[in-house]
Amino acid sequence: MKTVGILISGRGSNMMALVEAGIPVALVASDRPDAPGLAWARDRGIATFALSPKGIGKAAYEAEVDAALRAAGCTVIALAGYMRLLSDDFVARWRDQIVNIHPSLLPLYKGLDTHARAIHAGDRVAGCSVHVVTEELDAGALLGQAEVPVLPDDTPDTLAARVLAAEHRLYPRILKEFVSR
Ligand code: GRF
Repeated sequence: MKTVGILISGRGSNMMALVEAGIPVALVASDRPDAPGLAWARDRGIATFALSPKGIGKAAYEAEVDAALRAAGCTVIALAGYMRLLSDDFVARWRDQIVNIHPSLLPLYKGLDTHARAIHAGDRVAGCSVHVVTEELDAGALLGQAEVPVLPDDTPDTLAARVLAAEHRLYPRILKEFVSR
């Protein structure tokens, strides 16, 4: 069985869904020492690691994150609202072992503001995707997707909430399959 390290930057609701689904999580790490999800993980007895890249540079920061993940025994990395781009070097060191959840039906709407872009385009269906992370943003192999309807009076916030609920169902299901491969 593979063991997962989760990288977060913020509230960490996807991380919580993964933990609550029984995914074997050995470390929750963040680039933001004040990320609310870190305290939640610590309270549940999960090891955490926090380091800001500010002042030390991206290479040194990533080397520390890499070392923390390996020391904790992680063999898979799940990105869950992690707001930094991993370097090509880091991705190469974890080739095919990093997965991400993205709030759109990829290949539509890579990057940010996915919900506003879906509404603006007049889409009737939105959703989320779990994919393998490669050097190219939001472009690795798809592992699974979930669709949700876009309602006529949706705002980016109401659509985001509906998609987030779908993320919390999709990510644990796909990651469970991924770690037991
Ligand atoms: C989610 O919508 C996720 O798809 C995106 O960032 C958001 C993170 O939410 N990558 P959370 O931190 O998991 O609550």
